[in-house]
Amino acid sequence: MCGIVGAISNNRNIMPILITGLENLEYRGYDSAGIAYSKDNNVNIIKVTGKISNLKQKISKDVESNIGIGHTRWATHGQANSINAHPHKFKHITIVHNGIIENFIEIKEKLKEKNYQFKTDTDSEVAAALLNYYYEKFNNIEKAIKEFIKNVIGSYAICLMLDDDLENIYTIKKESPLVIGTTDNTNIIASDIRAILKYTNKYYILDDFEYAKVNAKEIIIKSKDGKIINKNLKVFTEKNIDNSKGHYNHYMLKEIMEQKETILNTILPFIEEGIDSLEKLPDLTKYQEIAIVGCGTAYHAGLVAKYLFKEIANTKCNVYIASEYRYQNNFLNKDTLTIFISQSGETADTIAALKLVKNKDCPTLGIINVKNSTMSFLVDKCLYTNVGNEIAVASTKAYTAQVALLSLLVLAQAYRNKSLSKKEVLQIIEEFKNIKTLVNDVLNKKDLYQKLAKDIYKEEDIFYIGRGLDYALAMEGALKLKEISYIHSESYAAGELKHGTISLIKKNTPVISSATNANLNAKTISNLKEVLARGANVYLITDENYKEDNINIINIPKVNIFIKSLLIVIPYQLIAYYIAVLRKTDIDKPKNLAKSVTVE
Ligand code: F6R
Repeated sequence: MCGIVGAISNNRNIMPILITGLENLEYRGYDSAGIAYSKDNNVNIIKVTGKISNLKQKISKDVESNIGIGHTRWATHGQANSINAHPHKFKHITIVHNGIIENFIEIKEKLKEKNYQFKTDTDSEVAAALLNYYYEKFNNIEKAIKEFIKNVIGSYAICLMLDDDLENIYTIKKESPLVIGTTDNTNIIASDIRAILKYTNKYYILDDFEYAKVNAKEIIIKSKDGKIINKNLKVFTEKNIDNSKGHYNHYMLKEIMEQKETILNTILPFIEEGIDSLEKLPDLTKYQEIAIVGCGTAYHAGLVAKYLFKEIANTKCNVYIASEYRYQNNFLNKDTLTIFISQSGETADTIAALKLVKNKDCPTLGIINVKNSTMSFLVDKCLYTNVGNEIAVASTKAYTAQVALLSLLVLAQAYRNKSLSKKEVLQIIEEFKNIKTLVNDVLNKKDLYQKLAKDIYKEEDIFYIGRGLDYALAMEGALKLKEISYIHSESYAAGELKHGTISLIKKNTPVISSATNANLNAKTISNLKEVLARGANVYLITDENYKEDNINIINIPKVNIFIKSLLIVIPYQLIAYYIAVLRKTDIDKPKNLAKSVTVE
């Protein structure tokens, strides 16, 4: 994770570029931050714990420089404090680093034998020390970089300043994204082009094992053996990037409310002309099986799709957590299509799983939000969720867009393999066209969600239960709540509770559920009564007209199975949000988290 930025110019002060870049990268981590810049041929370093706002306060307004590097950190090795914060300086070398140096302990031990002493617990300081060691050995920074690439195991995007050469920034990349933006007499390095769009939309992408020497006038990119690589300059053309909160107090609320537009925006090209539009979706009938891989919320979107593929389209489907998938036998074969779901397109585990499938030459499809992200280049085919920037750490509008796209893939499959008739498919398409009104209806029950939040926000354990599709949704509901409110919340298959977990139910424990499957609802309601009998406070989201004593009902409109999950998740998102408001947490940047998980 973490965000890096570096800038060098011969006609402007680069300090505002560093700060703006870091502010735009804060979504990658925000537990400490720092910058290094040159002043009178000396490298000065400022580091703080906490957010970029703390860093800004520490930098005096009149500091100017033409070369600098900066970092916002999500701690992996060593506590989140100012000592472990980047930049790390080791004698001649100052670096900021994204990624993980996997063999850092071994390298550290070897360097200690050579009397190197370390001040921090980080792998990044070891990277700086190793670069310094090679630099002193060869008296040549490029040789040092090439040796570094040969000997380091792990992932890195590094920006490096060298005391003896403050006319250049050096940058090295493996498995952690890195771009070099270019504008008039100024070049800017960053871990995400969006960090520097205020200054330029023209950029180069570095590939794995490449390094570059960047000064105000030129960018020289080389392969690991030192050969110059001529890269195509890319132009970032995405327009209308709205990074403001509008009139909302939090990005999360804004993004939840945007779902009335974003779901339809994502799926419109595949429904607007009925079946003809649906046919634009990839044909999955040629595969024996569908595998879906993702992390966190993206994995939960995959669970909804699995249910629909199996139950509606009669198609074998399995869903895997990327960090597990990459280390297990997946019996890969060309008859299985593997779908990779990711908002950011940069999640390290999902990328690793994708590379695994690609190395076996098996087919892949991406459902990705961020264009030009690492995964978007790797997959055979990509369907974009097109929800715009999702800034709040807790994913909401990306999840519903992922579910909507996956649902249409299932619908197309059910049409092609005749699990559903043409008439049924057309009816479902018509209902999808009405999604805006349906979503609006559920979003508008704010008072209900706020009341529920008020009833339960002081609790420390909350359970989410459901069966089938409702279980997949319960998992997302519990995740949303725990990540932003810090309340311990768990999801369980409703029928599984009495095999152990019911022992945790006590007076007033909230148990929240949804029941959307006519064949299973009675069973879920029985399970709710079982916890009610043990003192729980019970809430049920449903599209049926149930009236049950002591069960608080939240009604959603009655819709077909493809749309249900898109509506049920909204109360889950808003309940989590309003609880977090009452608990006064940092909703958009919850503790310990980051928007893009670029380490394993
Ligand atoms: C939870 C959340 C995370 C992400 C997960 C995968 O609200 O946002 O669980 O869903 O880190 O991220 P992407 O989708 O970027 O691969």
